[in-house]
Amino acid sequence: MIKYLGSKRGLLPQILRAVGAAAGDRAVVADLFSGSARVSHALKAAGWRVLANDELPFAQTLACGLVQADAERWGARADRLLAELSHLPPASGWFTATYAETARYLHPVNAARLEAMREAIERLDPEPELRAILLTALIQAADRVDSCAGHQMSFMRELAPRAMKPLLLRRPELLPRPAAGPCLALAEDAVSLAGAIECDVAYLDPPYDQHVYLSNYHMWETLVRWDRPDTYGRAQKRTDCRTRRSAFNTRAGIGPAFARLVTGLRARTLVVSYGAEGFLARAELERMLAGRGFLHVLEVPHRRYAGTRLGIHNARGEKVGTPGPDGTMERLYVASDRRLDLPRNQDYRMVHEAAEAAGALDTQQAADALAVQQVADAGRCTAIAAGPSATA
Ligand SMILES: C[S@@+](CC[C@H](N)C(=O)[O-])C[C@H]1O[C@@H](n2cnc3c(N)ncnc32)[C@H](O)[C@@H]1O
Repeated sequence: MIKYLGSKRGLLPQILRAVGAAAGDRAVVADLFSGSARVSHALKAAGWRVLANDELPFAQTLACGLVQADAERWGARADRLLAELSHLPPASGWFTATYAETARYLHPVNAARLEAMREAIERLDPEPELRAILLTALIQAADRVDSCAGHQMSFMRELAPRAMKPLLLRRPELLPRPAAGPCLALAEDAVSLAGAIECDVAYLDPPYDQHVYLSNYHMWETLVRWDRPDTYGRAQKRTDCRTRRSAFNTRAGIGPAFARLVTGLRARTLVVSYGAEGFLARAELERMLAGRGFLHVLEVPHRRYAGTRLGIHNARGEKVGTPGPDGTMERLYVASDRRLDLPRNQDYRMVHEAAEAAGALDTQQAADALAVQQVADAGRCTAIAAGPSATA
């Protein structure tokens, strides 16, 4: 799995326990901001049927390669093709010039090998799931030998030691199809998608602040789209980084977007990751979620990403800001139409439950919250209505 800002790698046990308390064996679980696909992958491994979604095409490709594609269907062909790609000679062109010479995210030889492999995939034009597996393998291989601090807004002054290692392709961590049914990866705006799907549990992990994921991972977007975009600045970002923005990245936009998402989703349970330092105030988020019925809030201490811990550096690699604190608090909000039996142990602390929500609710709101809203109509929700860009 790739390095990804906001990855919930460290919170997987808590997320899986929260989903497990709400989801039966054959449940459909939607991960509407799937990012690195780490959470969706763990949900699939746990046996649920997963609908992964992220508005960025490279993230959808990761989810298609790691979650939608099943090991038994593609494993052997993927191994054969990855072995062939590994033996291609380097072919330096615009990708190498942009990302390994003008900017220096990769060693030029690794970039030229990547470029040769990516061109070969374009010529092969494989089925969408196989293409996603191959592209995921390329992204993972490049991520292991990159020369930046976990994002592509800047790069090291001198190539990092890991960037001197040869690029090695490995088969992505494919999983067998869950008994619950096939998984799906989409690239939609989560708010627009919310009304078009039904699921048992929806996991929501939107951006918390102004950091735009397209800008942070513009090279992955280019590697997937292979569209030779115009670029700008020292970081060589795609020019569409200036225009493609998420409502969740602005103080004014996040509240209304979250509210539409929470009211629009047809799911009995929502599990929401949200950091203590996000744009949206805790009380506002709790007010929205309490309307779904019972609300549990869990606090989990979380180590910050390396960039914040190291401090801010300018383009010459000089430290110009002081490091931030090592840790922050991640919160996991579990809102359901019924009281869930959430496990309590030392890393999974129950802060409050149901309508007693942290004094944020007045008496009438508390009474409303207790009057359990029936979110999904009778019975289990198993149908997935795929959006227009679903890949077969
Ligand atoms: C905090 S990250 C998710 C991290 C993910 N849970 C993981 O473990 O890797 C937020 C993700 O939301 C995506 N995103 C932002 N706005 C979106 C929107 N309106 N609809 C769907 N995805 C969105 C971003 O592209 C980013 O990948």
